[in-house]
Amino acid sequence: MTAVQDLRSWNRLVALAAQERISRPASMRLDTGGLLMDFSRQRIDQDIIDALIALAQESDLPSAIEDLFEGATVNASERRAALHTAIRAPHHERPDGVADVIEAEQARMLDVARHVREGDWRGATGKPFSTVVHIGIGGSRLGPELVVNALGGDFDIRFLSNVDGNAAIRAFADLDPNETLIVVASKSFGTLETLTNARYARSWLLERTGDENAVARHFVAVTANIEAARRFGIPADRCLPIWDWIGGRYSLWSAVGLPIAIALGETGFRELLGGAHHMDHHFRTSPSAQNLPLMLALLGIWNNNFLDASTHAVLVYDHRLAILPQFLQQLEMESSGKSVTNDGSPSRIDTAPVIWGGEETDGQHAFHQLLHQGTRAFSADFVAVANPGHDLADQHRWLLANCLGQGEALLTGAPSPADAPHQAVAGNHPSTTLLLDRLDSRRLGMLIALYEHKVFCQSVIWGINPFDQWGVELGKQLARRVYDALGVSTDDTIDESTASLVDVLKSYRR
Ligand code: F6P
Repeated sequence: MTAVQDLRSWNRLVALAAQERISRPASMRLDTGGLLMDFSRQRIDQDIIDALIALAQESDLPSAIEDLFEGATVNASERRAALHTAIRAPHHERPDGVADVIEAEQARMLDVARHVREGDWRGATGKPFSTVVHIGIGGSRLGPELVVNALGGDFDIRFLSNVDGNAAIRAFADLDPNETLIVVASKSFGTLETLTNARYARSWLLERTGDENAVARHFVAVTANIEAARRFGIPADRCLPIWDWIGGRYSLWSAVGLPIAIALGETGFRELLGGAHHMDHHFRTSPSAQNLPLMLALLGIWNNNFLDASTHAVLVYDHRLAILPQFLQQLEMESSGKSVTNDGSPSRIDTAPVIWGGEETDGQHAFHQLLHQGTRAFSADFVAVANPGHDLADQHRWLLANCLGQGEALLTGAPSPADAPHQAVAGNHPSTTLLLDRLDSRRLGMLIALYEHKVFCQSVIWGINPFDQWGVELGKQLARRVYDALGVSTDDTIDESTASLVDVLKSYRR
């Protein structure tokens, strides 16, 4: 297979980038279903767009997209399909072999959510649940938290992920154990943080209720490892399965989305899936130049690989979407932070940029200074919602004005007055503006699926596997050794600087 940097279109792009063209089209926008993507603030012109689209074709992206939807083994290192699109497809569009199991398990999950919402499922003392503590980390937390935070709903849902005891204590501090349902979401049911927090939750519950049977009534597991969940003490009829063909960061559509279904109810959850499916259909069927995920991916590649933008800021102008930068950090960096290509050779081009970002005007008063006058190249996505869902019209007008104003400043910059060079703002920083007409389940589903497919397109062009994450394993193994060393054991295989820090910590903790 030809390496991407040897493709004709890639070299055409190298040549175009060297020309430092600055002509920008006045208007470049695409929209579907209430989501508009404006990329008139990118550093592109029609020749560049044509070359980027040629790159997608030369990389065989159209057939890779079919492979994804049809359930081919797109995750080669783990020999798995990645069928998150099947979960949100109507039954008749799902690939054979997974259609029925998805239907059955989705119905079961929604049933659990309904029982909790309607108070038919009760705690050990017969009280209905008023709070859900969702324990999970990474993909087993960020997707559900993003959605619940964005759309609210009518249930108190809390998220606990970190292994920090302060977080665990705070999450449970003011809760009534008799009214608390604990969801343990872990695909592997082997993740240190999740199991540690689940054990804390179990002791918290048992100490306060004094009832050995409370675990069976107050815990639900969402996992691909039902046996481990049962060993923990959660009965099989309280374990909701997920499948190995759903990656963690693509799992909010599965039973991992239980807190979403509890917060929003079945209708809201199905609308979320419906919005994602709308984007799936758009992605699979739209021509390249009209295809939102593909164009978002290509713009990212242009900025990252040809304009040296090694970081990408996600600037969210809607408080309800505050978790989006974090969610995208995992989605993009865990998927595409790779340096080995699919044929096992080292990548000779850059893959994922650093994804970072923040929330609305808070960011303007903190890190935007660097965006306007710093020395490094970057790109940005602005995300805003036209109708805010509240009636503070003037505040919302200010918010939107700031969003558009920041994008304009990044684009145009401003020369400095003759006597004040420190006031110069260079501009010429590329950004895309994503506008939702309003924020609801459907549109949020579309927005998330848009980014999922962006990541997929980029991975195909970069020649990497976006569905594995082997890089995180080493740190996990080393933490286990250090954990032992922080106790009584001595381990001379630990490197010297780590060992000396262990000694310092031990002396402080004595
Ligand atoms: O450490 C990375 C990771 O494996 C993520 O990919 C995943 O979302 C997270 O940990 C949680 O994994 P699990 O759902 O198995 O607990």
